[in-house]
Amino acid sequence: MARMRKKKNLISRTEACSDHFFEDPSANRGHWREACGMPEDCRMFVEIGCGKGLFAENMAKNHPDVCYVAIEREPSCCLLAMEKAKNAGLRNLFFIRGDALGFPEYFGENEVDRIYINFCDPWTRQNKPKRRLTYRAFLDMYRQVMKEGGQIHFKTDNDPLFDFSLEEFEASGWKTTCVTRDLHHSEWDKENIRTEFESKYAEQGIPIKRVVAEMLPKKGESVHSDENACENDATHI
Ligand SMILES: C[S@@+](CC[C@H](N)C(=O)[O-])C[C@H]1O[C@@H](n2cnc3c(N)ncnc32)[C@H](O)[C@@H]1O
Repeated sequence: MARMRKKKNLISRTEACSDHFFEDPSANRGHWREACGMPEDCRMFVEIGCGKGLFAENMAKNHPDVCYVAIEREPSCCLLAMEKAKNAGLRNLFFIRGDALGFPEYFGENEVDRIYINFCDPWTRQNKPKRRLTYRAFLDMYRQVMKEGGQIHFKTDNDPLFDFSLEEFEASGWKTTCVTRDLHHSEWDKENIRTEFESKYAEQGIPIKRVVAEMLPKKGESVHSDENACENDATHI
């Protein structure tokens, strides 16, 4: 993927989005809801690699009662995403400008209800599976911060990455549900929120793959599964 050019006035424009941005996200570890001014019992969804933030914006609009945190390591992309949140006047959408590798430093145990990973880099040409955001070491990292019944919602255009991810979920104690290899021609399309990359791939006629992975308990843990995992995203929370 081509790198985005550095945005003009990056610092001042980032400062103008300060209501949506935490310079030191690890300072919120364990009390994100409070730091974001959201109710203690609200759900928290985290998106990894939000790009220019279209999906995050629409998710936050559709779910005003959810505390939505989007992570993006590319400063120029993160800025555009934050400006979307600011211009839309969203009070429940916040950003971490950083790498997914910092996950356990950003969030505390049991803090996150759901993770979205949309069209992450497949790392296929370079053959570096350990860098994929669905590699088992990443899945174990997400587990550390997820609540009982936590889910990962994963979408991709890439068949080898999708196959790899299904295997990694199964091998790491996640139950895969709502699996489709053609989301836009499936029963779930009506409620699907498209990302920027998703629209681009759809225009090229590439079928979109999607899976919901539910965290199974490790030995000695109990996990209540979310039976409505694949219902209308706008209604089931
Ligand atoms: C292919 S783009 C997809 C953007 C968006 N999710 C979409 O579907 O339109 C992948 C994005 O993930 C970001 N990204 C990749 N690896 C990341 C990581 N380890 N931590 C945070 N962001 C990451 C990239 O900077 C890029 O913006």
